Amino acid sequence: MCGIVSAIARHNIVPVLIEGLRRLEYRGYDSCGIAVLTDGAPRRVRSIARVEDLAAQVEKAGFASGIGLAHTRWATHGAPVPDNAHPIFSRETIALAHNGIIENHEALRKALSAQGYTFVSQTDSEVIAHLIHSLLPASSLEHFSARLLLARARRQYGDRCGRSRSASLRDGGDPAAIPNTRNDDVTQCKPLKNALADAVRAAVQQLRGAYAIAVFHSAEPHCIVGARRGSPLVVGIGEEAHFLASDAIALAGETERFIFLEDGDVVELTADTVNITDSNGARAERELRVLTSLHQIGALGPYQHFMQKEIFEQPRALAESIAQRDTFLPSCFGERARAVFERIDRALILACGSSYYAGLTAKYWLESIAALPTQVEIASEYRYRSPVPHPDTLVVAISQSGETADTLAALKYAHALGQAQSLAICNVATSAMVRQTALSFLTRAGAEIGVASTKAFTAQLAALFILTVTLGKVRARVAPSAEDAYRQQLRHLPVALNRVLALEPHLIAWAETFAGKENALFLGRGMHYPIALEGALKLKEISYIHAEAYPAGELKHGPLALVTDAMPVVAIAPNDALLEKLKSNLHEVRARGGQLYALAEPETRIDSDIGLRAIRMPEHEGPLSPLLHAVALQLLAYHTARARGTDIDKPRNLAKSVTVE
Ligand code: G6P
Repeated sequence: MCGIVSAIARHNIVPVLIEGLRRLEYRGYDSCGIAVLTDGAPRRVRSIARVEDLAAQVEKAGFASGIGLAHTRWATHGAPVPDNAHPIFSRETIALAHNGIIENHEALRKALSAQGYTFVSQTDSEVIAHLIHSLLPASSLEHFSARLLLARARRQYGDRCGRSRSASLRDGGDPAAIPNTRNDDVTQCKPLKNALADAVRAAVQQLRGAYAIAVFHSAEPHCIVGARRGSPLVVGIGEEAHFLASDAIALAGETERFIFLEDGDVVELTADTVNITDSNGARAERELRVLTSLHQIGALGPYQHFMQKEIFEQPRALAESIAQRDTFLPSCFGERARAVFERIDRALILACGSSYYAGLTAKYWLESIAALPTQVEIASEYRYRSPVPHPDTLVVAISQSGETADTLAALKYAHALGQAQSLAICNVATSAMVRQTALSFLTRAGAEIGVASTKAFTAQLAALFILTVTLGKVRARVAPSAEDAYRQQLRHLPVALNRVLALEPHLIAWAETFAGKENALFLGRGMHYPIALEGALKLKEISYIHAEAYPAGELKHGPLALVTDAMPVVAIAPNDALLEKLKSNLHEVRARGGQLYALAEPETRIDSDIGLRAIRMPEHEGPLSPLLHAVALQLLAYHTARARGTDIDKPRNLAKSVTVE
């Protein structure tokens, strides 16, 4: 969470920063800000509204510069108020944007306060700015003072002072009001080469926690410095321009060439050069990657919201994620997969949010199809408890972004406990998670912009199903005839998903009723229970309706007390072995006046009636039925939120990738 975009070029980079922020808003949108270096001093504007407000302020302020940085925030330390918005300044000379959490910020704050630094925000990030400043050599700070005086004079005497005295006089300026300070004074101050990068290298040694930073210093107007540990940062290579960003998406349209920094790297950028040092301070070479399809990201096309677009992209996302992998060969997961799959005798799935629900669904598959005992853990819980590890465990980390701090930490913890065989199921090839596991399976959902996961979730399910059948084969639990049947079911998925999408008008009709409610209950059984959880999550996160999900058999143990005619109860009712049990649960709801909304299949004989509205789902897809119901519930949540007029792609208080714990 939080997005950084920074640039240094021989031309004005302000439009690049603003466009970059627009593309990074999915990472957090509590506040945003931009700082540029003009006339030897940093200037900034910040907003607690959205990027469009910031853009208007920037235009009004007439910002233009070849060096700058911008930030969009998801608040952790300190409320979303202007003082806490980034960029953060230190002594009016350093500007810094930070993504992550500095765990030892209190100790650093105390030490820096003792050195005379004044803190004006509640952020943990402010300590980084002051720390870097405190580590700059005294000569650099003295060197800077002439520049600062000039900048102050310019601010005092207005914009004309940003130009030469002769130019201002030519334009009719009042000679008395224009200080006789030559513009050349600024350019004559040669930058103290590397002082900022050295100070950043020294500063990051003192930081505990996670950070990606971009920083510039007035005394080095030709350079920006970036550093990362735990939070992502990518270098973009442009024409006489270099960039830093939290996600390559920020730079779509600017460049297709990227260098993904590694943990502990510090990078120094000028318009012409890129110098990277690793965590030991040694010069480092990093691979240059070319990403050609970034420009396609970010266009809404005929859709109102990214979430809607992403829901409708699912047939394609699934087809691409499955292509060439429905051979169920271990090699789809990496070269070493066969050896690992033959060795392991249990699975541990670690994930957060929707990815966790994908993992919960997979537990049903892995145990019933591959006979593999499977434990599914919320990453933020697993990382802090004392589980009983087993060396023959396949640790499966599931994450759309591959960046989620808790999942990364849980994975590291599982490794530290001696469970070395790990697999990442991830949508981002360049993510930290993929680098930290021996095996990986990349879903091909494409970039997901809407905060609420949709296509990434169903692509994860497809990946987990492929994993299940592959493990089932390795473990001699899946016969060739069953393998063929699973392959056919997978290949049929895109068609089946299109049929679910065609049910949209019926779900819009449901949504009209839901929009007026404040609570909802979701019921499912077996492998559809996690889909009920996902349906409730989707509804609450984007429509702000309180929603809970239960295994239908649990109804009588508490939630039935909530059922009145004001409570819509959504039932996932596939035509499976649990249908009759589920029907009994539905009777329990109807007997208490509850309003039932059932996603039923043709043979279930659940039809609309008084107190019951049924939607006829496409034919049962065997074990893949959860994917179809998930899509129907996405449409219900989307249209309910739309009817309530919420900010669907950027729900309040949330962010897409959660890089803090
Ligand atoms: C956030 C997102 C969710 C996502 C979860 C886990 O909460 O809003 O949509 O499911 O993070 O993210 P991951 O990238 O690890 O799948």
